[in-house]
Amino acid sequence: MCGIIGYVGSKEATPILLEGLKKLEYRGYDSSGVGVCSAKDGKIAIRKAQGKIRHLEELIKSHAIPHSTVGISHTRWATHGAPSHRNSHPHCNVKQTIAVVHNGIIENYQEIKQELQKKGIKFSSETDTEVIAHLVSQYFHGDLIKAVQKAIGRVRGAFAIGVISSATPNLLVAARVGSPLIIGIGKGENFIASDVPAILDKTKRVIYLKDGEMAALTANDVKIWKFDGKPVTPKIDTITFTVGSAQKEGYPHFMLKEIHEQPNVLAQMMKVRTKGNNVILDGIGLSDNQLKSIKNIYIVACGTAYHAGMVGKYVIEKLSGIPVTVDAASEFRYREPILQKGTLIVSVSQSGETADTLAAVRDARARGAKAITICNAVGSSLVRESDGVLYTHAGPEIGVASTKAYTAQIGMFYLFALKLGELRKKLSDAERQKILKELKHIPTLFKTILKDKDHVAQIAKKKFRFGCFLFLGRNVNYPSALEGALKLKEISYIPAEGYAAGEMKHGPIALIDEYRAVVCIAPQSDVYEKMISNIQEIRARKGKITAIATQGDTNIKKHADYVIYIPKTNPLLTPLLVALPLQLIAYYIAVNLGCDVDQPRNLAKSVTVE
Ligand code: F6R
Repeated sequence: MCGIIGYVGSKEATPILLEGLKKLEYRGYDSSGVGVCSAKDGKIAIRKAQGKIRHLEELIKSHAIPHSTVGISHTRWATHGAPSHRNSHPHCNVKQTIAVVHNGIIENYQEIKQELQKKGIKFSSETDTEVIAHLVSQYFHGDLIKAVQKAIGRVRGAFAIGVISSATPNLLVAARVGSPLIIGIGKGENFIASDVPAILDKTKRVIYLKDGEMAALTANDVKIWKFDGKPVTPKIDTITFTVGSAQKEGYPHFMLKEIHEQPNVLAQMMKVRTKGNNVILDGIGLSDNQLKSIKNIYIVACGTAYHAGMVGKYVIEKLSGIPVTVDAASEFRYREPILQKGTLIVSVSQSGETADTLAAVRDARARGAKAITICNAVGSSLVRESDGVLYTHAGPEIGVASTKAYTAQIGMFYLFALKLGELRKKLSDAERQKILKELKHIPTLFKTILKDKDHVAQIAKKKFRFGCFLFLGRNVNYPSALEGALKLKEISYIPAEGYAAGEMKHGPIALIDEYRAVVCIAPQSDVYEKMISNIQEIRARKGKITAIATQGDTNIKKHADYVIYIPKTNPLLTPLLVALPLQLIAYYIAVNLGCDVDQPRNLAKSVTVE
C-alpha cells in the first residue's frame, strides 16, 4: 500500500524524504513523488516518477529541487487511475501552493470533484486524492490547520494525509481515518510516516495518531486535535525494535533474513508467554471464566494470516473441543455469520491494518461479539478495535511475503489452544505439559532445518522452470499446502495450487503428467499412509515429486524425486516445521527466476483498502 513520509525541521528535507521512502518500499508501490516548499517562486516544488524510487532520485539529480526544510513524499500503489506520472502524489491545487499526499480511498470523491469542476477547477489527475488539495485550497485563508480541518469534514472514506502550503512554509499538517499514520518526535525536527521503519534511524519516540485525529507539526512542536477541534494530549511511545531489525543485515533479501529470524521469534514468544508449565496470555482482555464459557470461535483473517487461522482451527478443536469456523475476512463481513452469546472472534493480522479484517471485527463487535486479535503491529487499528490482543512480537516484517509473522501467528494459536484446553479440562496436565515442552523445543528444530537450506536451494535449481506447481497436504498440514502454494505464486509468479491431498481424485489429478511439479507434505502422523498412497498415484502419472518428510523416513525416498527432511516432533506441531522448507522453496525458485523477492509485483505489504 501507499507510503507517506513528511518532514519539518532545520535540515534539507529532500534527502530525508527519499531515504524514508526507501524504507517504505516493502509496502509495495508503482510510483513515487516528493513535494517541498520553495522560497523561490512561492510554489510547491514537485518531482514525481513512475516505477522505482531510483527513478525519482535520477529525476531529482537532473532537475534539482529547491532547498527546503519542510516537505512531503509518497510511494503510490494505484487504486484510482493507472500508475502514471500524473496520478502520482503529491497532488496540488491549481496554483500549486498547497500539496497533499494521501493513503486510503476517498469514497465521495466523484461528487466533490463534480462540485469543484462546476466552480471551474481543472483537475490534472484521475485520483481521488486531488479533491483534497482543491478543497484545502478553497478553505485556505491563511490558516492551513483550519483549511485541512474543513476539507476533511467534507470527505468520506479512509485516509491518512500530509499537507503543506507554500504560504506557511514551516508547517506540516496531518490527519487520519482508517489508514495508519505515525508522528516521529525528533530534536528540532518532526516527522510523519505510514510506518515506523521510515523514521527509525531518526527517532524512536512516536505518537500513533488515532482515527479522527489531526496534527500540526513544526520543527519544535507537535499539536494534536480531534477533527471537531478538541485538543488531545498525545501519548508518546518508545519503539523497542532496532534499526538493524529493519535492515537486511548482510542477507541478500529481507525475506531470507526474516526466514532466519524464526527461531528467535518463537523462542522469545515461548520465553515471554510461558512460566514453567503454564501459558501466560497477558493482554487477552478476557477472564478465565469468559474463556471457559466460549461456545464457538470465528477466526477471521486474510491471505497468509488466514492460513495461520486454518491451522488454529485444527489445533483449537483438538486441544480444547471448541468448534471453530475460519473465514476469509472479506467473506465474513458480507455474509451473515451466526453470532451467539459466547461467540468469540479471533482476528489474525501482521499489520493490524488490513481493511477487510478490521471491518469484520467491527461488524462482529457491533453485533455484540467479543473480539481478540493475534497481531504483530503494536498499537495498530485492529488492536485498538479489539477487546484484547495477543501480540506476536515478531519484529518488523519488511519482505512483502509473510514468513516469520506466519509462524509466530501459528505459535500463538498453540499457546491459546493449550490455555483453552487447560481451562476446559479437555487436556490432562501431563498432555498439556508434554505439548508445551515440544513447542518450546521447536526453535531448536527450526535451526536444524535452516542449516540444511542449501539442499533446498539445490532442489529449487532443478525445479524453477516448471510452469505449474501443486502442493498437497492433509489434516493440520492442509493449510501448509495452501500457504506453500501462496508463497510460491506471490514471489515467483508461477501458478501454484494448494490442495487437501484427499481431494486429488476429485479433480486435480487430471493436472498430473511429467510436466507437473508436486510438493507433498508428508511428515509422520496418523495420515502418513494416506499421503503415501497419494504420492504413489502422482508417481504413477509421472508427476515430479518433492516430499517434505520426517527425518529417518527412508521409505519415502522410493516414491519421491527429492526429499526435504524436517526433524521429528509431535505431528500436531508440524505446520511450524514444514513452513520453513516451503518458504525456502518459494524463495530460491523466485531468486533463480530473477524475481524481485521482497517487493513482488502488484502486491502491497499492508492492504488498507478493501
Ligand atoms: C502473503 C501475505 C498476505 C497477508 C495478508 C494479510 O505473504 O503477506 O497474504 O498475509 O495480506 O495481511 P495482514 O496479516 O497484515 O492482515
